[in-house]
Amino acid sequence: MRASQKVTDRIKRLREELNYHNIRYYTFDDPEIPDSEYDRLFRELQDLEAQYPELVTTDSPTQRIGSSPLESFSEIEHGVPMLSLANAMNEDEFRSFARRVSELTGVKDIEFAAEPKLDGLAVSIRYEDGKLVQAATRGDGNTGEDITQNVRTIHTVPLRLTGKGIPPILEVRGEVFISSAGFEELNKKMISNGGKTFANPRNAAAGSLRQLDPKITAERPLEMICYGIGVVNGAKLPAFYSEIIDWLQGLGIRISPERAVLNGLDQCTAYYRDIAERRESLPYEIDGVVYKVNSIAMQEELGFISRAPRWAIAYKFPAQEVMTVLLAVEFQVGRTGAITPVARLEPVAVGGVIVSNATLHNMDEIRRLGVRIGDTVIIRRAGDVIPKVVRVIVSRRPDKTKVIRTPSRCPVCKSELQKEEGLSILRCSGGLYCEAQRKEAIKHFAARKAMNIEGLGDKLIGQMVDVGLVNNPADLYSLTQSKLSDLDRMGDKSAANIIEALQKSKQTTLQKFIYALGIREVGEATALSLATHFGTLDAIIKADEESLLEVPDIGPVVAKNIVTFFRQKHNMDVIDSLINKEVRWAEQTIALSNTRLKGLTFVITGTLSALSRDEAREALQSLGARVAGSVSARTSYLVAGDKPGSKKDKAEKLGVSILDEKQFMKVLEN
Ligand code: IVH
Repeated sequence: MRASQKVTDRIKRLREELNYHNIRYYTFDDPEIPDSEYDRLFRELQDLEAQYPELVTTDSPTQRIGSSPLESFSEIEHGVPMLSLANAMNEDEFRSFARRVSELTGVKDIEFAAEPKLDGLAVSIRYEDGKLVQAATRGDGNTGEDITQNVRTIHTVPLRLTGKGIPPILEVRGEVFISSAGFEELNKKMISNGGKTFANPRNAAAGSLRQLDPKITAERPLEMICYGIGVVNGAKLPAFYSEIIDWLQGLGIRISPERAVLNGLDQCTAYYRDIAERRESLPYEIDGVVYKVNSIAMQEELGFISRAPRWAIAYKFPAQEVMTVLLAVEFQVGRTGAITPVARLEPVAVGGVIVSNATLHNMDEIRRLGVRIGDTVIIRRAGDVIPKVVRVIVSRRPDKTKVIRTPSRCPVCKSELQKEEGLSILRCSGGLYCEAQRKEAIKHFAARKAMNIEGLGDKLIGQMVDVGLVNNPADLYSLTQSKLSDLDRMGDKSAANIIEALQKSKQTTLQKFIYALGIREVGEATALSLATHFGTLDAIIKADEESLLEVPDIGPVVAKNIVTFFRQKHNMDVIDSLINKEVRWAEQTIALSNTRLKGLTFVITGTLSALSRDEAREALQSLGARVAGSVSARTSYLVAGDKPGSKKDKAEKLGVSILDEKQFMKVLEN
């Protein structure tokens, strides 16, 4: 059947519309229509193309995964070489870079454009008359590999440019990467398909881009952000890098939302500090900040030395992955008796601090890693997360290594260890007979998010349990200044401060009190749900599993944990004695309906002190709210914790109401 003009026009219109919405969604993170409408348009186009195959074109939005697997990649020569960057490892090196630029140009305060340095792979994409025709890896800088069919599967890469003034030839350059969330998801998928996991997002991105079968690449959550151009024909380019980047954005290309133009050294170092602080809350991994002289004329004047421009530098963050030697493994006992193997390491600097311990999680993890004592291992420390062993370098294995054996008894109280069905966790069966568990329970009770007893640190608690001064949380409130002063290295003043802090902590909230009890798997969000649902401690204690299941976000396992906890006489004794010692909380108002936030959309950004972001999300959802990942005109509230970043700017621009943590907790507690 030959297509009528009407069909041809409709197909053209659908492609334009889909392309427009794609760019709204991926480049600008600002969708205009709901996904369902997008899907409807997409299916309509698919159906028409199935009816009229002769009308299918390579730049149709339906054709992201096109051709069949390749035998090998062919080579592509870069019209303009793809350079690399010189590195600065510290502020001195950055300052001498800036000084050299000033000397060579004779300009004192240089204007720099800056962006985070994405940790992925450089790719160059060629558009002819706005149509994506080719994509290549960096290769050796002069010649790369043709990965066109793989890059076409990346949704953040437009198959067609948009807007006015599209040049006949435009090569766009940028980084292909996998976000932190995409990486986690991908590894989970790899495990459930019985495959091997990727060591980090960069490796995952590299492995995905180098697939000969584009169908596999299409299943990988690759993304791209652009930061430069190659060959350009038929366009008059702006005079500043920052303007070129904005121009690219206007053509539908995704660029860094963190980009900035900076004047002089102080602004540059402030930007570095800001990005370093926000590093962990960015959705992707970065390994530094890239600074580029903003004036293109100046860039040309400065030129290159060996493969790197003199007008740019990568000011790197301290490495998050380093190599060291595993000296020994010790088994630690947690609050709930869970046994965690801890690696003792040859001390190394990682992520800017010296590390000599790392977690090995559990015995299954040790088996998965295949690690032995004496091995050279890679450890990773990202942000405030506990350092962990991520890999063994088997080629460095010495002749004599020791296999790590599963312990059969608790290293502290010698009780038998139990393995929970279906779980990798080993647990000490000693309960509060086990000194380690007792210490952990008291530490948890005293913690900031629980009873918030200031000055009562882990060391001191350990010492007090060791000498038998306290055996359970309630004993803390029997302490006197003179008993405390008898402890080693405890001055009168510190003892007095602790007594005062204990006194102060007695006034708390029902949520914090429940959380402080340390019921297994009852975190802050669950404690809050319990408090608002039942209103009183008595009601919670009396609740059976069935009525606990009515609480939003409480499932059968947690319900059982709660009932079991309150059934133990020793737990009830501790609670009674805490109340006898005048621990008090204000009456809790019961949430009348758990859907009082229905119809509202929240976005959470930055770090909250009382809840993790996940817990905040769960708490909101349990009250009927929707929680979205990005700010748009439809956002009702932005919850801004510490270091909120670009989402806050966007919310301000759009006039979205912003809640700080205090106001947010009020909304939850109502
Ligand atoms: S500019 C001539 N900007 O870092 C300048 N590179 O170590 C060429 N990279 O090969 C690169 N983020 O893969 C530039 N904002 C950014 C970057 C960036 C990551 C990568 C890129 C480059 C490597 C150099």
